[in-house]
Amino acid sequence: MRKLIVGNWKMNGSLASLAEIDAIAQAGQDYPKVDVGLALPATLIAPAAAHAGGLIIGAQDVHARPSGAFTGSLSAAMLCEAGARLTIVGHSERRAMQGETDADVQAKAMAGLAAGLHVILCVGETLAEREAGHAESVVASQLELSLPGDADPAKLAIAYEPIWAIGTGKVASVADVAAMHAAIRAKLAELTGPRAAQFRLLYGGSVTADNAPGLLATADVDGALVGGASLTAANFVPIIAAAAL
Ligand code: 13P
Repeated sequence: MRKLIVGNWKMNGSLASLAEIDAIAQAGQDYPKVDVGLALPATLIAPAAAHAGGLIIGAQDVHARPSGAFTGSLSAAMLCEAGARLTIVGHSERRAMQGETDADVQAKAMAGLAAGLHVILCVGETLAEREAGHAESVVASQLELSLPGDADPAKLAIAYEPIWAIGTGKVASVADVAAMHAAIRAKLAELTGPRAAQFRLLYGGSVTADNAPGLLATADVDGALVGGASLTAANFVPIIAAAAL
């Protein structure tokens, strides 16, 4: 399976960052076997897409509805028109701060897919849930309630992002990631049958150039969703290189 490495810039970057995006796009061309993307702030999608080359430019969220009185929101068609080819849905920061439910996330995923966007659907447990021994059941439930049943594995990837590992420098151990990704694959088999093997499963949470080789060599880890370390080519390109090994 081709690996997919996506940077999530969150609320970072400005027009001055286009040079950095160019540098990432240029360097990405050295790794033709890896799919590389950046989920950018909406204001950067169009200018970045104009000279992205093979780099997949994406959004960090999408509204479930095609148009209407939804102040501040962007539809899938708007994102496509701006040049986005991908969108993240269900990031834990949005689930926590915007109160998004699994049903909301499913509706957003369906809207993205219907417009032709690649979708990265995020799942992941809190530290309290992991410590209580509920990590796998929490993630299984998120998948069951948010994965569009007919999703095409070529167009949708799952990102496992344990909330306690995001922006904390605390990366999940390879053993924990392997166990969770195997559990996700098993749940996908229950939900989607033989298609389950074809979904790309990304790990996210404090991925760096140092830990990427170990994580990306793990069974059922088909890529990474990278926050802080995706903001500069210097930090991000070695993670792309690790996916090409
Ligand atoms: P960090 O890589 O900064 O921990 O962020 C991970 C993340 O939330 C990517 O979506």
